[in-house]
Amino acid sequence: MQPTPAVEVLSADKIYPNGTQALLPVDLTIAEGEFVTLLGPSGCGKSTLLKMVAGMLEPSDGRLLVFRKPVAQIDESGRRMAFVFQSPTLMPWASVQTNVRLPLDLAGVPRKEADARVAEALELVGLDKFAKALPRALSGGMQMRVSIARGLVTQPDLLLMDEPFGALDEITRHKLDADLLDLWRKKKLTVIFVTHSIHEAVFLSSRVIMMAARPGRVVEQFEIDEPYPRTADFMVSPQFSRYAKKLQDSLLRASNAHDEVMQ
Ligand SMILES: Nc1ncnc2c1ncn2[C@@H]1O[C@H](COP(=O)(O)OP(=O)(O)OP(=O)(O)O)[C@@H](O)[C@H]1O
Ligand SMILES: [Mg+2]
Repeated sequence: MQPTPAVEVLSADKIYPNGTQALLPVDLTIAEGEFVTLLGPSGCGKSTLLKMVAGMLEPSDGRLLVFRKPVAQIDESGRRMAFVFQSPTLMPWASVQTNVRLPLDLAGVPRKEADARVAEALELVGLDKFAKALPRALSGGMQMRVSIARGLVTQPDLLLMDEPFGALDEITRHKLDADLLDLWRKKKLTVIFVTHSIHEAVFLSSRVIMMAARPGRVVEQFEIDEPYPRTADFMVSPQFSRYAKKLQDSLLRASNAHDEVMQ
């Protein structure tokens, strides 16, 4: 049986009002339960593609379906999605729990139910002891966890993450990567993840989509055919190095690809 598609990008392209062709038409299907990473040089349209999936940007042509519905009608599918940005964008004057509760407050969820869901989300990201803390009392990694909890509190089926750990030190990033994989498995999420890190892409993904810039487009795809759970042992294994080398070569080709288009 074919897995249900979580996201279908159907010849969707994007030209910004200033004339920049940010994306040539993209065709892409992401099945429920996949962990897909978008990788590629700066300006190749990763954020543009993610924002179109989120419904934050309209494609110039083509369409996108999320759980078989146009993005604006996702409610009809009974499914939800959440977006986690690179910077935690927390309200500095509000406690961790108030920050995490924000999407539920906006949705008018009754306070008692909201508080229970906030507690669950904070526990999932290991921050239950910090519910009353202010963001500035937390490290960068912990603030990112708050941001992820705020994404999870709506109990999404699809999680979109745009370079969520890019600003963090390597050890913290590894820890959050591992925790994210646990969450993905536990909650049976579908994840679309943007990163500049080849190692992060290999460690996390079931599939990597390589993009090239000027104009932005999808150029290659790689299945990372390695069972989960993935451990630190995987990261020092020969097969990890082989995948990393493949992606490295592809990224180099993608980074040079605009020269060919321009000629
Ligand atoms: N609001 C906008 N108006 C005009 N051009 C834009 C706008 N946003 C992005 N672009 C351009 O569209 C192209 C794709 O940008 P996008 O931000 O999607 O790339 P990206 O792959 O996310 O890059 P990065 O790795 O630096 O985050 C780039 O050429 C960028 O300059
Ligand atoms: Mg971006």
